[in-house]
Amino acid sequence: MVRAGAPAPATVDLGDPDTFADHDLDGFWRTLRDTAPVYWNPPAGGRRGFWVLSRYDDIMAAYRDDLNLTSERGNVLVTLLGGGDAGAGRMLAVTDGHRHHELRKILQRVLSPRVLSDVAAAVRANTRRLIREAVEAGGCDFAAEIASRIPITTISNLLGVPEQDRDHLLAQTKAALSADTEDVDETDSEMARNEILLYFMDMVEERRAAPGDDVISMLVASSIDGVPLSDEDIVLNCYSLIIGGDETSRLTMIDGVHTLAARPEQWRRLKDGEVAIDTAVDEVLRWASPTMHFGRTVVRETEVHGVRLRPGEIVTLWHASGNRDERVFERPGEFDLGRAPNKHLAFGYGPHFCLGSYLAKVEIAELLLALRDFTDGFEQTGEALRIRSNFLTGFSTLPVRFRPDPRSMKEAATQ
Ligand code: HEM
Repeated sequence: MVRAGAPAPATVDLGDPDTFADHDLDGFWRTLRDTAPVYWNPPAGGRRGFWVLSRYDDIMAAYRDDLNLTSERGNVLVTLLGGGDAGAGRMLAVTDGHRHHELRKILQRVLSPRVLSDVAAAVRANTRRLIREAVEAGGCDFAAEIASRIPITTISNLLGVPEQDRDHLLAQTKAALSADTEDVDETDSEMARNEILLYFMDMVEERRAAPGDDVISMLVASSIDGVPLSDEDIVLNCYSLIIGGDETSRLTMIDGVHTLAARPEQWRRLKDGEVAIDTAVDEVLRWASPTMHFGRTVVRETEVHGVRLRPGEIVTLWHASGNRDERVFERPGEFDLGRAPNKHLAFGYGPHFCLGSYLAKVEIAELLLALRDFTDGFEQTGEALRIRSNFLTGFSTLPVRFRPDPRSMKEAATQ
């Protein structure tokens, strides 16, 4: 049965970035969850077909199943369909087994809450300054002037990227994964990815010669089973931190402001202190679900709901649907800042669970706190442009006008 108003599954190609720009897929996902929880997206546009999991429980089970499913042939459609990931077996997200475990331990050391307390303090100061300035100016393009500045500054601080290189790196990061406009194609994205890799290659050389106290210097000094990490290993994992940590957080913040601007009653709950910040952060994450999917390749035949998945086939796990699954979430289509419990899938699950989740939550929490303290509300003043991607969802522009909170702005001025 196809739900009224939902596009028929056969007309939707989840491999095509335009699908997400052109359609509201809520009805499509509901149809899949109800009638085809293991759905075959047929080959289209020169791309091969792949399995689609849309129910929360099935997505969790697939994330846990590193026996039958592997990440080593890519973990997003672009690489899975493109024949593999160049970082396989070396970059954390596309490495499995013993090496993944060891590499994760190394990276965990630099991304644990204890180690990140200085970074968290810098996020707070940076976010509050940006919001205060924007409120004083009356408004801004929140995407370009605020959300673009927070995660890149955070990751750059972690990696020791000098101030003057950050704008260039941000531009490359944007082009590497998604395309803000239709004229940026896959070749441009690939060139941007190579640019980032080359940039970090130079930095690794510099840190080998003169180590500092940043993540790159720490990776230079790390080894697995007695073998030091190679330059390539280090570069690929820096790439993964910048790619994993910038755009996802940025899109979540933009979506949070977009959603709150359209729902003044939820904003009031935040402003009046009715909802705990951590609870609000989780709902912002569930609602935004910036990474629409992740994926795996079948290595041993397995079965889901009686459907056989064969070795070599691609399985995609859709947060965009799992985070709206009515089997798990009450009123899933409602944005409720006080939602609890809220075991959303935005950070994945299992052995590859997002390593930057703490940092991402700090960034979103500090944004909500700064908005709560310095503004008395805000509204969208123009069109928000959608990015074009089959992996990430969100906006590349968001013009907003802020109403200042007179008390906080006065206090800030005297500090
Ligand atoms: C993995 C989402 C922020 C670094 C993941 C995965 C998801 C995810 C779903 C699992 C991928 C898979 O299973 O194949 C997000 C979201 C974020 C965010 C929604 C922000 C809202 C960050 C940040 C960093 C980061 C800030 C780094 C500073 C990583 C890394 C992995 C990862 C290194 C690979 C972990 C592994 O394979 O063991 N992320 N992420 N992420 N994320 Fe994040």
